[in-house]
Amino acid sequence: MFTDLKALVRSIPDYPKPGIIFRDITSLIEDSAGFSESCERLAAAHRGKDITKVAGIEARGFIFGAGVAIALGVGFVPVRKAGKLPGETIGQNYALEYGVDTIEIHADAVDGDDNVLLIDDLIATGGTAIAAVSLLRRTGAKVEHTGFVIDLPDIGGAEKLRAHGVAVEALMT
Ligand code: PRP
Ligand code: HPA
Repeated sequence: MFTDLKALVRSIPDYPKPGIIFRDITSLIEDSAGFSESCERLAAAHRGKDITKVAGIEARGFIFGAGVAIALGVGFVPVRKAGKLPGETIGQNYALEYGVDTIEIHADAVDGDDNVLLIDDLIATGGTAIAAVSLLRRTGAKVEHTGFVIDLPDIGGAEKLRAHGVAVEALMT
């Protein structure tokens, strides 16, 4: 397990807007070793912490979150954009650069007996992850651990997330 994961992340200039360098994980997950090692390393960082569920944020957090859940031998909880889940949901708004968005979980997806690991592909401002942690905690679940493939530290999201009382693991910056 010595794959250079960072070398597998592609940087695409001027997407989605001029001046932004987009860190693209599709090239990482298209690589068999890159994909499996990403999930395994995120899982390894959380073994022995009594994680009972992995929650992943739509859409790219589903890809890694599912792999981490399988590696840890626990179930997977999708944190979805509003209006996508069929059962009773609870939702949380969060700020975007312009406007607000909403994420939802099924109200019965986790409860006070759960110790949830939150996974996403990337943390930038931290707004999405902070909203997901708040949402999951409203069920009574414990949320003390988060894992990302990529942290963009210049934007400061990981520090903000730590201030909400969660540990933040990232495979690369
Ligand atoms: C991206 C990324 C994270 C979030 C990070 O998702 O996958 O979920 O933004 O940004 P933040 O730390 O500033 O909140 P996006 O909303 O683009 O959704 P997608 O995965 O469906 O493309
Ligand atoms: N890549 C993918 N998602 C993102 C990025 C990025 O560089 N910045 C904010 N969300």
